[in-house]
Amino acid sequence: MTLPSPPMSLLAELTHRCPLSCPYCSNPLELERKTAELDTAGWRSVLEQAADLGVLQVHFSGGEPMSRPDLVELVSVAQKLNLYSNLITSGVLLDEPQLEALDKAGLDHIQLSFQDVTEDGAERIGGLKGAQARKIRAARLIRASGIPMTLNFVVHRENVARIPQMFALARDLGAARVEIAHTQYYGWGLKNRGALLPSREQLEASTRAVEEERAKGGLSIDYVTPDYHADRPKPCMGGWGQRFVNVTPSGRVLPCHAAEIIPDVDFPNVKNATLSEIWNASPLFNMFRGTDWMPEPCRSCERKERDWGGCRCQALALTGKAENTDPVCELSPFHGQVKQAVEESSSKGEELVYRRYR
Ligand code: SF4
Ligand code: FES
Repeated sequence: MTLPSPPMSLLAELTHRCPLSCPYCSNPLELERKTAELDTAGWRSVLEQAADLGVLQVHFSGGEPMSRPDLVELVSVAQKLNLYSNLITSGVLLDEPQLEALDKAGLDHIQLSFQDVTEDGAERIGGLKGAQARKIRAARLIRASGIPMTLNFVVHRENVARIPQMFALARDLGAARVEIAHTQYYGWGLKNRGALLPSREQLEASTRAVEEERAKGGLSIDYVTPDYHADRPKPCMGGWGQRFVNVTPSGRVLPCHAAEIIPDVDFPNVKNATLSEIWNASPLFNMFRGTDWMPEPCRSCERKERDWGGCRCQALALTGKAENTDPVCELSPFHGQVKQAVEESSSKGEELVYRRYR
């Protein structure tokens, strides 16, 4: 049997606990409790197994990974295993001593997320009073520490007009890299699609703002557009079971952060099998790997090894079947649903539904 190539990245979701309540959260609808979380030894083993499997990078994420008191220790384990480590954080729990400890432990990169540029906008989305000031302070501390930093702004219909101010803030904070990421509608985010999906005009204006900033130079910019305005899907996670392995707080191993919605399948767990067994041989990882599972029109499409059929979780959420063609694709028989959502987005936005960790 030919084994699949090893994953490039491990997404280590250390915890689902989070002080923010963003309505576009991509974590699953059912959050995992603190009592179910893997302990330090469990995560240490995951990191060791990941390195053995050939993983090169670990992204410590959540929830808010800084809610875990053993984060520094886990970063240090990653460093000893020669894994490139990235911390994905909201920054609201970051202070100087912790940053110093993370730096000493060998943290390679921090991705700091912002909900907006204005205090009101940030509080309206994140639901945490004073969060913006704490994030700005965190950005300045990170900049002073010398740890490479990317600022991540999630944009949607409420804040998309403020992209130029986001770039100005990034320059002021000394970030070399900025990610402008339009909200994707997975997990909790799908509940708020009506409130957050931008109109086509808003999307075009945001693309112009990004192009203008790129032309100025001096800032490296990643720009993620919303699937809904595309006519072909993106290769979600670089293809199912091809580049990413995701471990949830309780040790479930998934091909993407949303895969727990896939019905009628056993979810493998690091408590019952090795990462290598799961990656190479579990039914879940082999379910949509490659192209053999594809129905028409994907099966005979010339793009099938470029986008790998798009997103299985989106196909399931919108059509009821994960094996259906991603409805973002214009060739999908379900594409009308996406078009309708876009048309409705031009009308007045709906109320936000917040998520809270209890
Ligand atoms: Fe991708 Fe399938 Fe659409 Fe072709 S038909 S572009 S493979 S989603
Ligand atoms: Fe699961 Fe796209 S989020 S395949």
